[in-house]
Amino acid sequence: MSRTTFTMIKPDAVSAGHVGAILEKITTAGFDIKGLKMTQLSKREAESFYAIHSERPFFGELVQFMTSGPIVAAVLEKENAVADFRALIGSTNPEEAAEGTIRKMFAESVGRNAVHGSDSDENAAIECSFHFSARELY
Ligand code: RTP
Ligand code: MG
Repeated sequence: MSRTTFTMIKPDAVSAGHVGAILEKITTAGFDIKGLKMTQLSKREAESFYAIHSERPFFGELVQFMTSGPIVAAVLEKENAVADFRALIGSTNPEEAAEGTIRKMFAESVGRNAVHGSDSDENAAIECSFHFSARELY
């Protein structure tokens, strides 16, 4: 089991001023921050990052949203990182997310849902290297 996962604080949560509160939730839950940056995805980068969803009806909306403003990307480390982080963020749709989860607290809707979390160890490794070079990780 890998100890690493990848997250993005999405444009809705960045523009609403929730970066500090979300990072506080993440570190309080026991995750160590190994890499951190604010950046803005190009259309091509967002299409590539979410390529698995390219045939879904919401793909255009997803790319439009993810490129609409800056994101905060982070590499996180903890035992059982992928599953524990998915539990911390809650369901994709904030209306279905458990009390106390990041999406319950900060997400506006299923499309504007505040945070991304890797869904497998394999995708965590791909997503970390998509956003961070080795010298940006500590
Ligand atoms: P993420 O990849 O961002 O962590 O989200 P997730 O695993 O919980 O959900 P996923 O199925 O991977 O979907 C990726 C993102 O697409 C948007 N979405 N919109 N309008 C819709 O019905 C719909 N469904 C998904 C969400 O922003 C979701 O996080
Ligand atoms: Mg996903």
